[in-house]
Amino acid sequence: MAESKLRVLISHNQLQARIQQLAGEIDRDYAGRGPIYLLCVLKGAVLFFSDLARAISHPVRMDFIGISSYGKGKTSSGEVKLTKDLDTSIEGYDILVVEDILDSGLTLNYLVHVLEQRHPKSIRIATLLDKPERRVRPVRVDYVGFQIPDEFVVGYGLDYAEDYRQLRDICVLEPEGSG
Ligand code: IMP
Ligand code: MG
Repeated sequence: MAESKLRVLISHNQLQARIQQLAGEIDRDYAGRGPIYLLCVLKGAVLFFSDLARAISHPVRMDFIGISSYGKGKTSSGEVKLTKDLDTSIEGYDILVVEDILDSGLTLNYLVHVLEQRHPKSIRIATLLDKPERRVRPVRVDYVGFQIPDEFVVGYGLDYAEDYRQLRDICVLEPEGSG
């Protein structure tokens, strides 16, 4: 890790302010409906998920799903697999998938396909970050925290080879010696 340095891209305060706005939109959109089934995509979304859940006033339920599409590097392996399934049935529920970052779209494209086969009432997606330039597969997202440029980011749940998840800010991971 000594060979890398971190530059803050989105501060903790900016993250929290945006999450309050997203939660307000979600409360308005789901008004009059049953509980929202929040699905956390492990592991990167875990901090966003917990802050978003606390900011939503509408009743929620929670479950967790593990998806892996990346090896230990910064680029997708192109292969997506389910590493941990849900514990509960989502049939007939309004599902809100909570993801850390939408990059190529392979992960969410695959996940939506898997979830649709389980007959939820509806599926929506909330992603904290979106790198639109990187899209390979189309994904329709309903709530986006921030659009970011094509840079590799860590912190607030996001990792590089499992490091940096605990950072309070979203940071760009830059090689030491770069601009
Ligand atoms: P996609 O399948 O290419 O859309 O990638 C989605 C997953 O790749 C995310 O859930 C992250 O786990 C990981 N990922 C993509 N970009 C980054 C990044 O900049 N930093 C950390 N993880 C990333
Ligand atoms: Mg992820």
